[in-house]
Amino acid sequence: MSRLVYVLNGPNLNLLGKRQPHIYGHETLADIERDCRALAEDLNLELRFHQSNREYELIDWIHEARETAGGIVINPAAFTHTSVAILDALNTFDAPVIEIHISNVHKREEFRHHSFVSGRADGVIAGFGTQGYQLALRRVAFLMDTKAA
Ligand code: DQA
Repeated sequence: MSRLVYVLNGPNLNLLGKRQPHIYGHETLADIERDCRALAEDLNLELRFHQSNREYELIDWIHEARETAGGIVINPAAFTHTSVAILDALNTFDAPVIEIHISNVHKREEFRHHSFVSGRADGVIAGFGTQGYQLALRRVAFLMDTKAA
């Protein structure tokens, strides 16, 4: 199985570090990417790390991943709560998918409690801060390795 993992980030996550730091912390998306790349090396994973404010771009990356990747880690951000299109795209992907949220969405407004993406995700991580990305990568690597075994 391919050791390539897509790490996809939805709208407004480009503003991490500046955006509501009391909720999302002080780390930037570049910090998260750096830490993910370091861990990926340890786990022998190749990474494609992307962010977009446009739903169609996230969908296009999921389609691309269908052809090449062994796993997807996705923080769909606000699209989590609105996007049937992202759910449909993920349903065309056959390998592990982990959904991650920096904040604990269940402790927040009610509209954040429902996720369309969770209908496909193999696991959901929420409220572990930016550390959640590392946990998600470890889980994807584990799922890949146990499936390959
Ligand atoms: C988020 C939670 C979403 O509800 C929100 O719209 C985001 C970020 C998180 O990482 O905690 O933009 O996905």
